[in-house]
Amino acid sequence: MNDAAPTSETLRAALSGLLDGLPPRQAAGAVERLIANYRGNTPTDTPVLRDRADVVAYAAYRMPATFEAVRSALEAFADAAPGWAPGSHVDVGGGTGAATWAVAATWDGARPVTVLDWAEPALALGREIAEADPALRDARWQRARIGTELALDPADLVTVSYVLGELTDADRAAVVTAAADAAQAVVVVEPGTPDGYARVIEARDRLIAAGFHVAAPCPHSAACPIVPGTDWCHFSARVSRSSLHRQVKGGSLAYEDEKFSYVAAARFPVAPAPSRIVRRPQIRKGQVLLDLCEPTGELRRRTVTKRHGDQYKRARDAAWGDPWPWGSGA
Ligand SMILES: C[S@@+](CC[C@H](N)C(=O)[O-])C[C@H]1O[C@@H](n2cnc3c(N)ncnc32)[C@H](O)[C@@H]1O
Repeated sequence: MNDAAPTSETLRAALSGLLDGLPPRQAAGAVERLIANYRGNTPTDTPVLRDRADVVAYAAYRMPATFEAVRSALEAFADAAPGWAPGSHVDVGGGTGAATWAVAATWDGARPVTVLDWAEPALALGREIAEADPALRDARWQRARIGTELALDPADLVTVSYVLGELTDADRAAVVTAAADAAQAVVVVEPGTPDGYARVIEARDRLIAAGFHVAAPCPHSAACPIVPGTDWCHFSARVSRSSLHRQVKGGSLAYEDEKFSYVAAARFPVAPAPSRIVRRPQIRKGQVLLDLCEPTGELRRRTVTKRHGDQYKRARDAAWGDPWPWGSGA
């Protein structure tokens, strides 16, 4: 696996360069327009990312967060598929290419990469940013509309990140089916909201029906144990804030946490986590409470106390989203 730090630093440097020459008020204005558009009615009939100012705003403001979310999902996937690395990657609705950077941060080396999107300005900017990473320099940036006509060339890995929410019901089904038809592995990432989670579950069901095995986050390929409407499975990725973030959002926090939902699934056999920590662990005096999704397809709270020795030490260090290696008896 790759050491992600250089890739994320290269991305950060490339993104901060984008804002050079753009008056700060203009950059902040473009971000505000973008946020307003994304609050509007989606799906849209035409791209939200219409011009250079829109895509610069998207790349500077959202791409670091979508990159970190996809990277976390891919890391969990790589843990469940040790020894596997994608020989080719197609990023559908790839925009400025956050997922291509996340793939480069997860697996060493270059591979054929294709980014598909209907917004030409996003593709153009993505191509420009990708110049900064040798693994992405030869990527193909192609205009394509997601719809029932979409057919993808065969690829080891297909990513669909932060896209499903912009699609009609029929197009959402079509893109997941096209990904399943084309790929050995599919990773879908959405915002960590109840709606984002619902779209991930719909994609998960579709992938399982197409013969895929869930690699992450679930330790099983059975039905999700969450009763619809009562809760939603999501995780959190830490994102350093840029000066643009601080300008738009105010405050001086050096980071923010991007909440995301995801599913990573493969046609080949995978080794999912023994169980997965699905909430922030609660550390109490002498004990840690872990909310786990278990291989049996059930949710269970386990209490790890000092009498569990090493397990207790590990539980104190465990983070939301980590695999939990413990078997029964806790
Ligand atoms: C929120 S952005 C996500 C971009 C990128 N995947 C990421 O994670 O940062 C959604 C992307 O989906 C693209 N998109 C939305 N609907 C589409 C459609 N029907 N056909 C092709 N691309 C579409 C948009 O142009 C945009 O680039």
